[in-house]
Amino acid sequence: MDGCSFVVPRGKISGLIGPNGSGKTTTFNLLTGLLEPDGGQVIYNGENLAGLKPYQIFRKGVTRTFQVTRIFREMTVLENMLSVTGLGVPERVARQRAEELIAFVNLGHLRSEYGGRLSYGQQKLLEFVRALMTDPDLILLDEPAAGVNRTLLQHLLDHMHRLQEQGKTIVIVEHDMNVIMNHCERIFVMDYGVKIAEGPPAEIQRDERVVEAYFGRRR
Ligand SMILES: Nc1ncnc2c1ncn2[C@@H]1O[C@H](COP(=O)(O)OP(=O)(O)OP(=O)(O)O)[C@@H](O)[C@H]1O
Ligand SMILES: [Mg+2]
Repeated sequence: MDGCSFVVPRGKISGLIGPNGSGKTTTFNLLTGLLEPDGGQVIYNGENLAGLKPYQIFRKGVTRTFQVTRIFREMTVLENMLSVTGLGVPERVARQRAEELIAFVNLGHLRSEYGGRLSYGQQKLLEFVRALMTDPDLILLDEPAAGVNRTLLQHLLDHMHRLQEQGKTIVIVEHDMNVIMNHCERIFVMDYGVKIAEGPPAEIQRDERVVEAYFGRRR
């Protein structure tokens, strides 16, 4: 990322888009402490998070999912859900929360199945709901729709809106433009590690620089 600066509106769903290799995942890695920025700041609730360890940032209420899923393959679906530490609630409550969340994405019947035996789409859904175990305030989703069938995707999107209504802030990286244009209030566009545009969907759709980044220069 080079001189890239943006402000994510609190309590809204925002989209971060850009061609392959434009720096979207890198941005998430910088925001969550997987990469340490060699300059700049990450301000969250008035505090600079740059340079903190991933677990420290997680404890401040920031959670994420990964483009390539990172579930525990040798743990069951339920164990994956309960692997989240620092919940601060009794085991019984955690279990109930886990059951509700997996039922929500139609994984209830697979609660005892090993993570590694789930389909790719199911792993994405498991990772999505696992990220919600802590009741985070800022949720970063890296391509949540990839490989998830239409029906479940709709559930996932409904759930996202419900989270937003509860006051959560959500940022989605996604190549599915229907998801981005129909569900995000604000969109940030990256290309070659810099922000090339920012605005509401209608504006972004007719932005020359965005069209060019995606489809190449007009002849
Ligand atoms: N630690 C690193 N050091 C140097 N280059 C890196 C590093 N991490 C990623 N890159 C490069 O930075 C570019 C951006 O990668 P990134 O994964 O952020 O893209 P992306 O926008 O998420 O793309 P995609 O849509 O394909 O997931 C790529 O060319 C990648 O190879
Ligand atoms: Mg990526």
